Amino acid sequence: MQSKTVSARPALRGEITVPGDKSISHRSIMFGSLAKGVTRVSGFLEGEDNLSTLNAFRAMGVTIEQHGDGELIIHGQGVHGLKEPEDVLDCGNSGTTIRLMSGLLAGQNFFSVLTGDQYLRKRPMGRVVNPLAEMGAKITGRQQGQCAPLAIQGCPLQPLTYHSPVASAQVKSAILLAGLYAQGMTTVYEPHLSRDHSERMLRHFGVNVESFDGGVSLAGGQELIASDLLVPGDISSAAFFIVAALIVPGSQLLIRNVGINPTRSGVIDILKKMNGSIELVDQREMAGEPVADLLVTSSQLKGIEIGGEDVPRAIDEFPVISIAAACAEGTTIIRDAKELRVKETDRIAAMADVLTTFGVSVETAEDGMTVHGCETLRGGRVNSCGDHRIAMSSAIAALCADQDVTIDDTQCTATSFPNFWQLLERISS
Ligand code: S3P
Repeated sequence: MQSKTVSARPALRGEITVPGDKSISHRSIMFGSLAKGVTRVSGFLEGEDNLSTLNAFRAMGVTIEQHGDGELIIHGQGVHGLKEPEDVLDCGNSGTTIRLMSGLLAGQNFFSVLTGDQYLRKRPMGRVVNPLAEMGAKITGRQQGQCAPLAIQGCPLQPLTYHSPVASAQVKSAILLAGLYAQGMTTVYEPHLSRDHSERMLRHFGVNVESFDGGVSLAGGQELIASDLLVPGDISSAAFFIVAALIVPGSQLLIRNVGINPTRSGVIDILKKMNGSIELVDQREMAGEPVADLLVTSSQLKGIEIGGEDVPRAIDEFPVISIAAACAEGTTIIRDAKELRVKETDRIAAMADVLTTFGVSVETAEDGMTVHGCETLRGGRVNSCGDHRIAMSSAIAALCADQDVTIDDTQCTATSFPNFWQLLERISS
């Protein structure tokens, strides 16, 4: 097991770029493979999660050239061009891979099996398996189809109108992907808008997708036409360095080329409400996604209440938001965030443990937590629970702790941010 020890640092200054967006990178492989023609991708995130998706599509007969530095050439096979994989498809730690592919594979004319690592095999799959079954999908799995491995016998599908109980882009995208193979209109309603990268990228590939207040629809039988893609920097990765610059006194960081899609930029709004100084510079658009450079200056943060529609817009950033809350003046209350219990690990329990080790007073609830800001974080030894975002959030807290922080099980950061440790070294040396 790999461990890292991180010490407090003086002011962080300079310019960085973070790796490509994980969600968009997954979709570039999936939609590029389903498109007719050749798609060139720049800025692809070569993290373990995305490589799981890439390997799965190679196993289904798609030629994907990797030219280094995030440059890919995908030779799309068309919506009906995938081949039966000879072996089980291993999704590793990636929820996006297994859930989106469940929808896609349900409508093929072949058999496939999806599995993943010890963490993924514990995560709930009923949220996609149940609506897909309503479309006629034949999916079986452990615990009555609620857990991976999932065995999928592809078959003809019917369209569905689905009211999702959770605001989840993975659920929405799985149903939309299955909907491409069903005759007629498939519609997904969700309680709050989740990230809309699938909708944007499908449109970029020429598919007619209708977004309306509360939901999204598409008609089955449409083709995807190859189109080049530029993947912006991942706001979820940038979030670690945004919080770092805010909490380490005297810091100023320019983070270049960050995706600021409004369904993902909750972390910026939340940290600004906490009095964080984050300036959006040079806002522009890249392949249907809004992008900006972020100028972050250290600030005295204040506790706030977080809930409602801001939660899905920042769902992956709560571990590092809880570090910001620990360094803030006053109390921060996080509500409506029950989804955190079923991420790569139970992130409410994991962050409460980490913060308690650092001497922060925390109370947990089923759907969130209350964090009482404290003057100095204590440092100590914590465990990532195999969750990349818990490991990286703990490292950020270490930057202003009064003792070293040792993090056990840090290998997991490779799933989403392979050069995290190097970047952390670079900005603080
Ligand atoms: C993702 C959606 C989110 C997020 C995950 C990536 C995606 O999950 O937590 O890291 O790429 O669609 P949910 O949609 O289930 O909240």
